[in-house]
Amino acid sequence: MVMDELNCQIYGCRRCQLWQGAKHAVPGEGANDSKVMLVGQNPGAEEDETGRPFVGRAGRYLTKTLLEYGIRREEVYITNIVKHTSPKNRKPHPDEVSACLPYLQEQIRLIQPKIIVLLGASAKETPRIAGIKYFEIVHPSAAMRFTKMREKFKKQIAELAEQIKQIQQSQI
Ligand code: URA
Repeated sequence: MVMDELNCQIYGCRRCQLWQGAKHAVPGEGANDSKVMLVGQNPGAEEDETGRPFVGRAGRYLTKTLLEYGIRREEVYITNIVKHTSPKNRKPHPDEVSACLPYLQEQIRLIQPKIIVLLGASAKETPRIAGIKYFEIVHPSAAMRFTKMREKFKKQIAELAEQIKQIQQSQI
């Protein structure tokens, strides 16, 4: 399967009830051959409106912080563990996560990243595959709200930037 086909499947997904309250499914975006994949929880209101991941407040904060450390949003692939928004932005239920996981699994298979960044607790359900490095980091919405979390988040993004540099150097 290619990415376009997978995205079409996600747009038409009825595997759980979440599609009923959503305007758009949000498959993900970025470089389809990126070495780095970022995985969040699920789309919020602005993501649902636009069909794009991480474009609301938390997303803008994430994009800005990545750039502060030299990581351009276009060079990574950004997605979520669950592809539809949820009522009042509640945490997706375990059955919704498991219904949606095959899409993430297929995205990982197609993109073949070297690093997967897990944003917040929900993203920890991401399948673990041998040979890929996993970084569990603070979710940007927590980083925006709490100073301590913000400091931790920035350190983690700095470490991520360092790891990306090492991968790029090993490929020269
Ligand atoms: N929070 C997430 O976890 N994902 C998004 O796409 C937006 C906000």
